[in-house]
Amino acid sequence: MPFARHLILAMLGGALCATAAIAHENENPAVEARHSQMHLHAFNLGILGRMAQGQAEYDAELAQVAADNLAVIAGTDWHAYFPEGTAVGEVEDTRALPAIWTNMADFEAKQQALADAAKAMAGVAGTDLASVQGAMGAVGETCSACHKAYRQPD
Ligand code: HEC
Repeated sequence: MPFARHLILAMLGGALCATAAIAHENENPAVEARHSQMHLHAFNLGILGRMAQGQAEYDAELAQVAADNLAVIAGTDWHAYFPEGTAVGEVEDTRALPAIWTNMADFEAKQQALADAAKAMAGVAGTDLASVQGAMGAVGETCSACHKAYRQPD
């Protein structure tokens, strides 16, 4: 039945358009990208954190992979994820404070601090548990230092 088929295609097309419209309206692509990046930070740091706190057994290979991933992700250029005009109040679903764009040099320094701490972690993560524990604090502190300054509290 051609009519029914057209109807179904029309409905399907409408549903796809609606989905695209919703995604477009609520999620700025740069915001989506930086959230993805932050989730990758948290995922890899979580692996190391659970080992450091004794909630997971130390696994040298896994620790090294997580630390290497964190170092690479943290060390990428974040600029494209933080374009002008994507602060709290300018787009939806973001907690990025406008202060980022008025203190970009400091924001970058805080990013670099994380990249450095993650690199130090990657240098020792595969050695032993004590080394992971030793490097953990510095990484966690760089996350919170930036969040304290540039992420809107919950
Ligand atoms: C240089 C600054 C900076 C550093 C360093 C940083 N973050 Fe973030 N993070 C932010 C900002 C800004 C946001 C808010 C982004 C938004 O909502 O658009 C954020 C958001 C997050 C979120 C919430 C994501 C979401 O979907 O709402 C998580 C999780 C997170 N960060 C984890 C981490 C972890 C773990 C580290 C350290 C390994 C880290 N971040 C280091 C700036 C930073």
